[in-house]
Amino acid sequence: MKILITGGAGYIGSVLAPRLLEAGHHVTVLDNFLFGQATLLDCCKHEGFRVVRGDCRDEALMGKLLAQADAIIPLAALVGAPMCSADTVGARTINQGAIELLCRLAAPEQRILLPVTNSGYGIGDKGKVCTEDSPLRPLSLYGSTKVAAEQAVLSRPNSLSFRLATVFGLSPRMRIDLLVNDFVHRAVTDRAVVVFEGHFKRNYIHIQDVVRAFAFGLEHFEQMKGRPYNVGLEDANLSKIELCAVIKQHLPQFTYLEAPVGEDPDKRDYIVSNQRLLSTGFATEWSLDRGIKELIKGYTILRNARYSNV
Ligand SMILES: NC(=O)c1ccc[n+]([C@@H]2O[C@H](COP(=O)([O-])OP(=O)(O)OC[C@H]3O[C@@H](n4cnc5c(N)ncnc54)[C@H](O)[C@@H]3O)[C@@H](O)[C@H]2O)c1
Repeated sequence: MKILITGGAGYIGSVLAPRLLEAGHHVTVLDNFLFGQATLLDCCKHEGFRVVRGDCRDEALMGKLLAQADAIIPLAALVGAPMCSADTVGARTINQGAIELLCRLAAPEQRILLPVTNSGYGIGDKGKVCTEDSPLRPLSLYGSTKVAAEQAVLSRPNSLSFRLATVFGLSPRMRIDLLVNDFVHRAVTDRAVVVFEGHFKRNYIHIQDVVRAFAFGLEHFEQMKGRPYNVGLEDANLSKIELCAVIKQHLPQFTYLEAPVGEDPDKRDYIVSNQRLLSTGFATEWSLDRGIKELIKGYTILRNARYSNV
């Protein structure tokens, strides 16, 4: 297949693009390399790889790239509530406007597989499990732009969305702002973390399973299209404090304290069911423990010692 990935040089895209190339697909990545990231160099050896430096809001450019695509995976976004608050115009035009543009330009038979965040569930009803039919109540601009993007995509034919849990794991474009990645990083480098809203529960998913879900979605598209799918570890609906306890099993010197030092803009506190995706035959392979072990190795390599002697 010919696959267009916007934002393909990001945290998820930098793992997804090489995997799709290795599976024999032709992959075009469109990215503005917002973070100066030097990822995807390992993709350049593939004949079937094409990379374009540009903006997903550029209608003429998108029109040209779309003309050659069977499937589109639009990853380009300002990701996370803090980044969206810092650039509200960018958030609306990239997270929502560019997806509406894509839906307008794409031919009905072209397939779109869109990732969104499961923070759209906002504050879950206490103790109640969120399914894809639960109401979406995003509180932040990030959450609401992603919900609007999903509505645009799912109201056209040949589309599906993956409502991703909080992703963890290593990527060449590393993100240590994600909860598990952040806590393990602090546990390795500082041996301590101060947790706020420690009893808020979230769901988690490893980046390799996210990429496997996209590959699975491409393969089983006819059976899966037209619906949203929660993508998370079925046995990992854990509070932040419970997550810290799991990390401590790997790093016994890790200390964590709870204090009211912050608030989640999306007030994420929910339990998520991933049964719809599991019922298609998809199975996750990366547990929280496996990912934590991977992260500990990665943080031995990644160390910001530029302005310090140790
Ligand atoms: N990582 C998660 O936990 C998570 C969870 C749910 C959903 N998602 C979704 O997955 C997608 C990818 O997220 P990520 O974690 O890889 O984030 P990321 O910030 O690493 O990746 C975003 C990519 O988009 C590019 N980009 C930004 N603005 C652009 C523009 N105007 N034109 C072209 N490229 C642009 C950036 O350079 C970057 O490579 C996003 O749509 C995000 O909402 C991620």
